[in-house]
Amino acid sequence: MKLMYCISVIKLNHFLMINKVLKIDKSNLDILVTFIHNNPIGRIHFRYFEKRDFTIVKNHLVANLYFENEECVGYGHLDEETKGGRTWLGVIVADKHQGKGFGNFIIDDLIGFPYVKSIYLSVDKTNRTAVHLYLKKGFKIIEDLTDKVIMCLAR
Ligand SMILES: CC(C)(COP(=O)(O)OP(=O)(O)OC[C@H]1O[C@@H](n2cnc3c(N)ncnc32)[C@H](O)[C@@H]1OP(=O)(O)O)[C@@H](O)C(=O)NCCC(=O)NCCS
Repeated sequence: MKLMYCISVIKLNHFLMINKVLKIDKSNLDILVTFIHNNPIGRIHFRYFEKRDFTIVKNHLVANLYFENEECVGYGHLDEETKGGRTWLGVIVADKHQGKGFGNFIIDDLIGFPYVKSIYLSVDKTNRTAVHLYLKKGFKIIEDLTDKVIMCLAR
């Protein structure tokens, strides 16, 4: 019980340490490019930029970099398909900062964005941490594909 309390306090401290959220635009796109480049483990499950140019983020509803002091610890976006399509969530936490509560924080920030009725995402079935977090936030599996599932948070 005492140990559980300590773990909660450590996680809470990490939530409080995200002290800067940087909206990405043309002027700071290089920070995103460097962040994605420097986190090869995260890229195993976050493959969004493998097939897309980084400049695509200028069309996103939300495209944020999250900082703990001056260090970038994560990235998250809401990507709205053109012409009234689905809004897709994407998130990646820096390799060395995974498991400290940052993903939790970033997902809360993204799903807190107003005006979006439903948020969709695609996640590898083997990505237990991400699936756990999405289920915890209320996402439901709406499509079961071979290696991944499509999840949706209806609001
Ligand atoms: C998925 C990701 C965003 C989660 O962020 P994170 O900062 O590592 O996660 P957090 O520390 O906020 O939370 C981890 C949660 O998963 C749980 N968890 C960790 N490993 C787990 C596992 N193998 N199975 C189930 N749950 C697990 C933790 O207990 C914690 O849950 P809790 O809050 O209920 O205690 C991050 O790990 C990441 O960037 N991974 C690589 C890229 C990626 O997978 N992006 C998502 C693509 S859909």
